[in-house]
Amino acid sequence: MTGTHAMLSHFPIGFWALATLMILVGAFLSGRLAELSRAALLPVLVLSLLGALATLTIGFLIWPMAANLASPLARNHILMALWSLGIFTMLTTLVWRAGDAAFDGARRWVLVILALVGGLLFAATGTLGGHLVGATTAFSAVLGLMGWEVYTTFYSPLWVIAVMVIIGLALGAIGIISQRKTG
Ligand code: HEM
Repeated sequence: MTGTHAMLSHFPIGFWALATLMILVGAFLSGRLAELSRAALLPVLVLSLLGALATLTIGFLIWPMAANLASPLARNHILMALWSLGIFTMLTTLVWRAGDAAFDGARRWVLVILALVGGLLFAATGTLGGHLVGATTAFSAVLGLMGWEVYTTFYSPLWVIAVMVIIGLALGAIGIISQRKTG
């Protein structure tokens, strides 16, 4: 069963990586490739959520909750998985509700910022999963540059919480400004 979790985890990670790339291409490039990226984004996001739900469900079915919560590394892995799901659910809702207008004007920045934050979070999820099975990657060094030492950081540093609040406020402001422009 543990192999099933490892196998299923490729779906959210793969689709989230693809969706992030499609958002960057759709937001910053023009031409056929950008059009295709914008048009095909919603199905890719929906598939990513289905893959994530399957991976999360199998994770919760395989390992007893007491065991998950006893390991700080596993706790952080699950926390990052849930944050990634939250960010990509937001992206899916935005793209689904806004339709063709999701990339219009300043709105594209909401998608870009969410996709980049989501990219960081799902990369951390996979990295911590790798640490749980003894398959470490160089991405831990990137996390280290941001103050997150994989084997010793089991809390959110204050500056991370401050950055998250600033990002939240900035996204809210962008939303209000673009709503006023279109309204
Ligand atoms: C979107 C959700 C998730 C993703 C993308 C993900 C990803 C991964 C990855 C890539 C690995 C390494 C697998 C390997 O190389 O063999 C892993 C391992 C692991 N994951 Fe997750 N995971 C997710 C959710 C969860 C959840 C919800 C739990 C527990 C409730 C969990 C518990 C574990 C454990 C315990 C391992 C170590 C596996 C082992 O010892 O064989 N994961 N995960």
